[in-house]
Amino acid sequence: MPLLLRPATEADTARLGRIGRDAFRDTVSLVLFPPHLACKSPTGDPDVDEVQWRDDRSLQRMRDGNLTFVVVDAPDRGSEAGEIVGFSQWELPAPPNAAPAQANQVALPGSLDQEALQHLFTALDRESHRLLGPDGHSNMWYLMLLAIDPDQQRRGIGRMLAKHGIDLAAKVGKDVFLVATPEGKPLYQSLGFRQLGDSFDVLGTIYSAMLWSSEPRVTS
Ligand SMILES: CC(C)(COP(=O)(O)OP(=O)(O)OC[C@H]1O[C@@H](n2cnc3c(N)ncnc32)[C@H](O)[C@@H]1OP(=O)(O)O)[C@@H](O)C(=O)NCCC(=O)NCCS
Repeated sequence: MPLLLRPATEADTARLGRIGRDAFRDTVSLVLFPPHLACKSPTGDPDVDEVQWRDDRSLQRMRDGNLTFVVVDAPDRGSEAGEIVGFSQWELPAPPNAAPAQANQVALPGSLDQEALQHLFTALDRESHRLLGPDGHSNMWYLMLLAIDPDQQRRGIGRMLAKHGIDLAAKVGKDVFLVATPEGKPLYQSLGFRQLGDSFDVLGTIYSAMLWSSEPRVTS
């Protein structure tokens, strides 16, 4: 079936949590929703908690002005209906005097390891400032999240979503920054991202900070 990329609507977020949960099931999710906290689940099922938490975060990020795109497996060419099979979320350079983002203020279920979550955010933020300087990635397009339904991977959906953001950033002369998982790194390399610094371990996942420059690099 044809794949169609479109901006997400708020109604779409009800599907995004499940895709995020499934895409990160064997990596980040294992650490954020560990078995020893399952007894603290408000719903009795940490899986349900994670999907809800991810839905809420996606919605909040959209309301904070972050761009979200989905790819839909459409029944026919030209149709916008169909199953959402992957999504990307982008943080854009904030306009001067913008209100602070609220995404960290969504409800946190008891089954979520808040210390691990904070550790992850702090580590990613620290690396961005260490590698890019005091302003971090605040003047760049930042790919916060790229997740494809595991049953739909290797169909070019991740490439479509990443490339779309790069093209939009390039149009306004902005660079693109991201922190890649080992699964994402080959895709970003093939799109022209270069790694900044050494890869680093956060809670068992090896991350690589990567930059795509809108200005062609001068080689001597
Ligand atoms: C990483 C991810 C986004 C890739 O999405 P995808 O739709 O499967 O990727 P595509 O089909 O667009 O593949 C793009 C390229 O990457 C390569 N690729 C994709 N997954 C790969 C993998 N696991 N290992 C090595 N290469 C891979 C493909 O060969 C393809 O190259 P090609 O176009 O030259 O053939 C997806 O696997 C995913 O959601 N993973 C779990 C969550 C995650 O880690 N997200 C990235 C966060 S930075």
